[in-house]
This record gives sequence, C-alpha cells and structure tokens, in this order.
Amino acid sequence: MNFRFIFSLALFFFLNLLSNHSRTVEAAPNYLWHDCPNTTLFAPNSTYQSNLNTLLYNLSYAAANNADGFADATAGKDAPGHVYGLFLCRGDISTASCSECVASGIKDVVKRCPGRGVSKIWYDECMLKYSDQSIFSVLEIVPGEAMPDAGNVADPNRFVQLLGETMNYAAERASGSESGKKFAVVEANFTSSQKLYTLAQCTPDLTGSDCNTCLRAAIASLPQGEGGGWSFTPSCGVRFELYPFYNASAVAAVVLPAPQLPSPPPAPLNRPKGKSNKSTTIIVAVAVPVGIAVILLFVACCSPWSITTKTYEVVEAEGGGSEITTAESLQFHLATIQAATNNFSHQNKLGQGGFGEVFRGQLLNGQEIAVKRLSEGSGQGVGEFKNEVVLLAKLQHRNLVRLLGFCLEGEEKILVYEFVPNKSLDYFLFDPDKRRQLDWSRRYKIISGIARGMLYLHEDSRLRIIHRDLKPSNILLDSEMNPKISDFGMARIFGVDQTRAKTNKIVGTFGYLSPEYAMRGQISVKSDVYSFGVLILEIITGKKNSCSFQSDGGENLTGYAWKHWRAGTPLEVLDPSIGDSCSMDEVIRCLHIGLLGVQEDPADRPTMASIVLMLSSHSVKLPQPRRPAFFLQKSMERQLKELKSGESTGGSMPWSINEMSVTEVSPR
Ligand SMILES: *[C@@H]1O[C@H](CO)[C@@H](O)[C@H](O)[C@H]1NC(C)=O
Ligand SMILES: *[C@@H]1O[C@H](CO)[C@@H](O)[C@H](O)[C@H]1NC(C)=O
Ligand SMILES: *[C@@H]1O[C@H](CO)[C@@H](O)[C@H](O)[C@H]1NC(C)=O
Ligand SMILES: *[C@@H]1O[C@H](CO)[C@@H](O)[C@H](O)[C@H]1NC(C)=O
Ligand SMILES: *[C@@H]1O[C@H](CO)[C@@H](O)[C@H](O)[C@H]1NC(C)=O
Repeated sequence: MNFRFIFSLALFFFLNLLSNHSRTVEAAPNYLWHDCPNTTLFAPNSTYQSNLNTLLYNLSYAAANNADGFADATAGKDAPGHVYGLFLCRGDISTASCSECVASGIKDVVKRCPGRGVSKIWYDECMLKYSDQSIFSVLEIVPGEAMPDAGNVADPNRFVQLLGETMNYAAERASGSESGKKFAVVEANFTSSQKLYTLAQCTPDLTGSDCNTCLRAAIASLPQGEGGGWSFTPSCGVRFELYPFYNASAVAAVVLPAPQLPSPPPAPLNRPKGKSNKSTTIIVAVAVPVGIAVILLFVACCSPWSITTKTYEVVEAEGGGSEITTAESLQFHLATIQAATNNFSHQNKLGQGGFGEVFRGQLLNGQEIAVKRLSEGSGQGVGEFKNEVVLLAKLQHRNLVRLLGFCLEGEEKILVYEFVPNKSLDYFLFDPDKRRQLDWSRRYKIISGIARGMLYLHEDSRLRIIHRDLKPSNILLDSEMNPKISDFGMARIFGVDQTRAKTNKIVGTFGYLSPEYAMRGQISVKSDVYSFGVLILEIITGKKNSCSFQSDGGENLTGYAWKHWRAGTPLEVLDPSIGDSCSMDEVIRCLHIGLLGVQEDPADRPTMASIVLMLSSHSVKLPQPRRPAFFLQKSMERQLKELKSGESTGGSMPWSINEMSVTEVSPR
C-alpha cells in the first residue's frame, strides 16, 4: 500500500514538474486519436493500477533521460496485474519535446481511459501504449486510423501517384534502416513551387519485414484527395504534407530519386498504369484497397449490383442486374489482408478447415471479413484459379456465404469471404446447452434455407455446383440464425473436374458421403442430396451421424431414424431439447424428406427442386422412403479404416482420410 502511494505521489509530482517546466519551452503536443476498448478493465485500487503507475513513471523517466525517442518498460513481472508499455517519439524531435509529449500523453491517457487495461494514444509528436499482454516486438496493425490535414491539391491524380511513389520509398527506407530508428523522411518536387514532404516510422523493436507490412497497411489507408494527412497504427505511422512539418536540420531528408514521374497523368485514380515496375507496385498498394473499398460498398448497399463503371467489364447477370466480373476487381493486396487479420494472428484464427486456416479480419473501412488461407497443394494454375474465383463470386444468394475476392501473392492463395457472425451449425447443434437456442421454428428455417441455397447451387446458378462437403460445420449462421452455406466450389478452386461423373479425387467428410461417391467415386447432385438428408436427420435429432452411434451397438443415425420410422414412432428421434413447442406435422415431414435423401439408390433420392417444393407446400404428397444406405455405410467405414491403416505401406490409394475430412488426393 505504501509503495503504491509513494509511486502515485512521485508520478504526480514528476509529471507536474515536467509539464510546468517544459510548457515554457515547447508547445503542447498535437493530439490525434486514442483507443482504449472497454473489454479489459481494472479496478482503481488493483495491482494492475499500481503496476501501471510504476510503468508510466518509468516511461516518463526514460523519455526525459534518453535520446533514442523510444523506450519500453514493464511492471509487475510474473504476477497477475503484469503491465507492458512503450512510447515512440517522432524521429526528428528533440529529447525535450519527446519528454514533453510523453508526459502529456500519460496525463491525457489516464484521463481519457480510466480503468482500461489496454490503451493507446497518438499525437503528432509521439505515441504511447500499454497493455496486459506483451507488446514488445509485436506487430499491431489494428486499430488503425487515418485523418486528413487541411489543404487541397491541384491535379489530384498526379498528386496521388507522386504520393504513392514517395511514401513507398519512405517505407522502404524506414523498414530497411540499419540505424536504431526505423524512421525516414522523403521529399519530392510536386510542381515548380510545391514540394511534397513525407515521413514514415515504425517502433524500432519491429523486424524490417514487420515494419514494412505495417507501413504498407498505413499507406494503403492514407486519406485520399487531400494535400496532407496522417495514417497510423499501434506499431507505425506515416504522414505527408505540402509544407515542411519536420525539423529538417535534425534529420537527413532524402529526395525521391529518379525515375521521374511521367508528366501527363496516365489514368484516373483507380486504374493507373505505372510506367516502371516500381511505380506499378506503389499504385497497386494505394489504389487496390481504394478499389476494393468501392467494390465492398457496392456489395454492401446495392445488391444486385446496379452500378456500372467504365473501368470494369460489365456483364449482364441472369437476374438482370450487372456485375463486376474482372479478376482485377476482386483482387486483394496481401498487405490489406495482413492488416485486416493482424498478420494472420492466432487471436484472429476462426478455425482450420480441410482446405486451410480461416481467419477473421476487419478491413480499414470497418467491413468484417473471413479469410481462408489455402494450404498449398492445389494443382490449379493462376489463370484457372482467378477464373474460378470470378465465377464463384458471381454466385449470390441469401443462403450462400458470399465470396468477396481473393489474393494471390508469392506463395499465398487466399479467398476472402463475407464474415458471418454466429459461428456454424455444429457449434449449436452438438452442444448440450447451446442446442436449446435452436427451437423447432429456427431448425425448420435452417433446413428450408439450406435447401434453397443448395437448389441455387444445383440448378439456378449458371455453374451447377456440386458442393461435395455439405455438413453442419459448413453451414454458417448470421445474426438472425439464417443459414449460409460455405465452402461451395472448393473442388473447382482446386481444379477437380466437375463434369466427369466419376472422379478419383474424393472431397468430403465421412458420415456425410453418399455410398456411391465414397465407394466408387461417382459424383452427382444426388450425392449432395444424400449429405443434405443426413443433415436434416442431425438437425431433427441433435445427434451426429458419424460417431455417437458407433459405441452403442454399431447402429448409425440413418439406421436409427429408419427403425423408428418403420416402427411408427418417428417422434421418438426428436431432440428432447426442442421441447414441445413444435409442429409435429413439420417434424414428421422433415424426417420423411431426410429419409428420402439418404436412400441407397441415387435415382430414388429426390432432387433439391422437389425437396424445396416438399418443404414449402404441405399438399405435395411424398413417396415412401426405401431402406437407407446404413448397412453399406458400415462396410464402407470398415473399408475406409483398412485403407487408412494401410496408407503408409500402400502406394496407390485412390484417396485418403485426413482426420475428419476426406480431401482431394490424386493417384500417382
Ligand atoms: C463498451 O463499449 C460499447 C461500445 O462503445 C458499449 O456498447 C458497451 O455498453 C460498453 N460496455 C461497458 C461495460 O461499458
Ligand atoms: C478496492 O475498493 C473496493 C471498494 O472501493 C473495496 O471493496 C475493496 O476491498 C478494495 N480492494 C483492495 C484490494 O483494496
Ligand atoms: C522502473 O523504475 C524503478 C524505480 O526507479 C526501477 O527500480 C525499475 O528498475 C524501473 N524498471 C524498469 C523496467 O525500467
Ligand atoms: C526540385 O526543385 C528544386 C527547385 O525548383 C530544384 O532545385 C531541384 O533540383 C528539384 N529536384 C529534383 C529532384 O528535381
Ligand atoms: C531542429 O533540430 C536542430 C538540430 O537538432 C536543433 O538545434 C533545433 O533546435 C531544432 N529546431 C526545433 C524547432 O526544434
């Protein structure tokens, strides 16, 4: 207690002393922004608070006493209440100004963020942050903020191009800097009377490559159409102006080297054609995110797309609207994805699918996205990959997860999807508590929605897509629990031939594979109908087809449902957590449709069109289901196991099992 008190007192006096002393020397720092989410809170008399006081005292001491303009500190090591912090001063300012800025920052952040465990505050002259997690050498791109400074420019197109080129060079110099500071200022002639001044800086604890990633992200979100402005993140910042805003005698400014800019401006802002390789990459860095923001705006508010622009190829869609269809318009820059996902950070990881890891992300315009980072091994060439993405992006239905675009850079193959907030169906369905949230009317809505989405894939879209891996974890739920089918078209992306009825490449998950597909590689829309049938049975019973039944007597879900259906006790299979608030007619009808879907002979199974009709009109009479493929399922399972155990020795397996998912593996 004494300790705490003394530190607080010392901090108080120290700060007062500092600011009273320096107010006479320096102007107050120029506040830009702060961020302190209310998700991490601490109590006023907690250990965290006293550790924070110690930390802030140490930081202010360091700012006044070292000339580096950067320091980190921690307090309360190896104990709860451990706090980490650091500050960074702009590379050109004096130790006195740095100390002044840090001291004001500390006073200010304590006022603006009382009780917040994770806080950041930015000034023109310095940045200060603290957290309950280690932040040293950690690249943080989110949250980012950009703000314009006053000032218009004549000839904005040429200005944007010069700005891109100059900022890019500044980023290169700052991230490649050998000296302690990751800091650079670069100047360029704009007109005979106007000069562009730019600055780029990272916290020096970052690696060169992290610094570069951070600066590219910051540059990508610089304010457009302005003569000056800032863009910064917790790890770096950039600024540009048409006047000298840094102390030129304290730093060695570099002048943008040749090649000179082409002088009439070659193209409008969103589609410039660079002359050299270098300027092309810069323009991509600046213009692609702008282009994407524009596209996302279209996607967000004007569906079906109705805006046409000269720069995009416009194709009539079947629905009558028009669409943006070029691969370029769907391409995301890797830096944008890295910025959105905090460089694929572990905290942003949503899961691991058969095709790679999935991350949650947020674009700088606030739009949330899901990013699927494809694992290597797709045999698809770049051109085919782009074509498939363009085709799949055209599939738009309220029960499909929308594909927003892709990224192809170096080794990375990435698909960008809309973010669907409520996780997937299996998360609710197979959890004893969460499944209670799925009352019958919700389950019925989910079944109908999936059926409509599948019908669209099978028949209504131009592409005739066979999903091949329909299962609860591929059904995402939006905020109103509407189902959205994900992972469709992956076979196309991976270059599996869609048109061949027989395939050597099995894509799917055990428990949902139709027998003819699993055993003989025969693929058709009816394989999806089988998976959909299993899905309906799972939704009604709340039980998983694959595992839960193995232990108790070797019976699987289709067999269990069939037995009760034959015995005239269909309602016994109903998930008890549904309660009695449901329409028995609907339950029985859905069970009936489910059993029709899992019939052994594909020809007996209804099409998705019939299923949608059966679900929407209760007057349609349903045929009696035949015995499902449950006996086959058992022998199939045995064969799968044998194949799996022989995998290491046998060389010519037609396909292999990858834990839960049976993914594409081609024979040699
Ligand atoms: C945290 O902030 C959000 C958004 O500003 C607000 O909706 C929420 O009520 C806040 N929560 C608390 C505990 O203050
Ligand atoms: C912190 O303050 C609250 C009320 O202000 C009090 O109930 C609590 O005991 C205090 N805790 C400590 C560790 O002093
Ligand atoms: C913080 O300041 C205290 C008191 O001056 C000192 O004992 C401690 O070593 C400092 N810690 C760090 C990490 O600078
Ligand atoms: C920039 O303009 C100044 C004055 O007009 C001139 O002296 C200088 O050579 C120019 N620099 C470059 C790189 O063109
Ligand atoms: C600019 O930097 C020089 C050299 O470090 C210094 O002497 C001068 O006081 C600085 N000017 C301002 C306005 O800070």
